[in-house]
Amino acid sequence: MAEKKVAIELKNISKSFPGVKALDNVSFTVNEGECHVLVGENGAGKSTLIKCINGMYTADEGEVYVFGEKITTHNPRYMKEKGVATIHQELNPVPDLTIAENIFLGRLPQNKFKMINKKYMFSEAQRLIDELGFKYDAKALMRSLTVSDTQIIEIIKAISVNAKIIIMDEPTSSITEAEVAVLHEQVMRLKKMGIAIIYISHKLDELKVVGDRLTVLRDGHSISSHDINDLTQDEIIAKMVGRKMDNVYPEKTNKVGEPLFEVKDLSGEKFHNVNFTLHKGEILGMAGLVGAGRTETCRGIFGLDPITGGTMLLNGKEVKVSKVKDAIDNGIIYLSEDRKLEGLVLIRSICENIGLPNLKKYKGVFLNKIAERKDAEEMKTKLRIKTPTVDTPAMSLSGGNQQKVVIAKWLCKNCDILIFDEPTRGIDVGAKYEIYKIMIDLAEQGAGVIMISSELPEIIGVCDRTLVMAEGRVTGEVMREDFSQEAIMSFALGGSAANG
Ligand SMILES: Nc1ncnc2c1ncn2[C@@H]1O[C@H](COP(=O)(O)OP(=O)(O)OP(=O)(O)O)[C@@H](O)[C@H]1O
Ligand SMILES: [Mg+2]
Repeated sequence: MAEKKVAIELKNISKSFPGVKALDNVSFTVNEGECHVLVGENGAGKSTLIKCINGMYTADEGEVYVFGEKITTHNPRYMKEKGVATIHQELNPVPDLTIAENIFLGRLPQNKFKMINKKYMFSEAQRLIDELGFKYDAKALMRSLTVSDTQIIEIIKAISVNAKIIIMDEPTSSITEAEVAVLHEQVMRLKKMGIAIIYISHKLDELKVVGDRLTVLRDGHSISSHDINDLTQDEIIAKMVGRKMDNVYPEKTNKVGEPLFEVKDLSGEKFHNVNFTLHKGEILGMAGLVGAGRTETCRGIFGLDPITGGTMLLNGKEVKVSKVKDAIDNGIIYLSEDRKLEGLVLIRSICENIGLPNLKKYKGVFLNKIAERKDAEEMKTKLRIKTPTVDTPAMSLSGGNQQKVVIAKWLCKNCDILIFDEPTRGIDVGAKYEIYKIMIDLAEQGAGVIMISSELPEIIGVCDRTLVMAEGRVTGEVMREDFSQEAIMSFALGGSAANG
């Protein structure tokens, strides 16, 4: 048997940003045909490390070897030529182009007249899509796709460039279980083809499914590397957080009270006749496959999308919501799943972002800045936002820490109903616990909390009851005492299974 070749080797990589040493003397090796998982808390340096590999950053110190060749030219184009493809954490599709154009972006096929060969491009893209077993139309606009679809397109794109090393930064953070299974299959297939994969994930369940080796990063250091089966999940967590964590879910201390918010026959473009009652002190789950209409329903409730029929009652009185302000004035808050588009002003500081929805609260000449800063500092500690100061612009935070700021900015406001849309996406295990705790505390204080989640374990761990949606309708309801993945999934598949 031929020895497996080393695909990538990192030697003593260090990289600093103002005020932060993001990577400190990191070394590890990935063989061809191997999936090497990289884990660590938010801000541990995972994304920075992969950018040092794919040429987006030049490391301050250390060396990168690709198939034995020492890399001296650090730019993304060169690394692509060397066979390194990256699927980034924050995707940047071009919404007004077709799926095919996005797949071929940067290398659009040309005919002999140097014109884009559209016919070839569409047929090639469609062939790829079909071959991989997906159901997209290559001519559809990217705009029409959800976050999860966009992610899958990125994967198709990486496969299509015949990359030898594929880096996936949290590829499963926004896709549902069925789609995760599809992705895992692709990873297995890539491994068989001899491709080396670096796989970053906060979903500990999947590490052993796809991974062969594992490296733990903590505060920019590579703590250790292991064969994946040499560590238990608890041992992995302990290495990541640097302490022992006994429970992944906090104790439930909230008590479900009387009805608070009733939704009757609510309809919009992508949801139909939705009925439910949210109680005081309750955490209500919304489970379902991506595309089931959960986000759309909640966007309707929050006034982001038009409602075409139905009513909403708050404490028995009808509330009319035609714009976001109406919802906020009634104490209804929606925390978006898409932090980049809706959640954050990236060039503004953490402090300003947190202050943004609370401008009223901070009225006054001098006091406001002080109060705003105090809240921001408090949130920084509570949610363990990893940043040198609260004046750091949001864009220089790691992905998971940006998500924490989105959550922080709404939590400083007093409200009765909080809708969390995939609140723990991309968030490390320690901070997840803190977010669950915040939801439970809010409910304990009498708020009604709705959590949209594609992670069944967290619905089961945190909610008192869950609705299940499929194809824009509520297809079932499961009480906490009856919770099981099977019970919930059966309703999620209630309609005919939605396509990714
Ligand atoms: N462009 C930048 N400018 C300044 N600081 C940065 C920049 N990029 C990353 N950092 C800082 O470097 C550290 C590591 O960030 P990185 O994005 O690599 O973390 P991560 O492990 O990928 O976290 P996550 O799980 O949240 O995605 C963080 O403290 C982050 O704030
Ligand atoms: Mg990251």
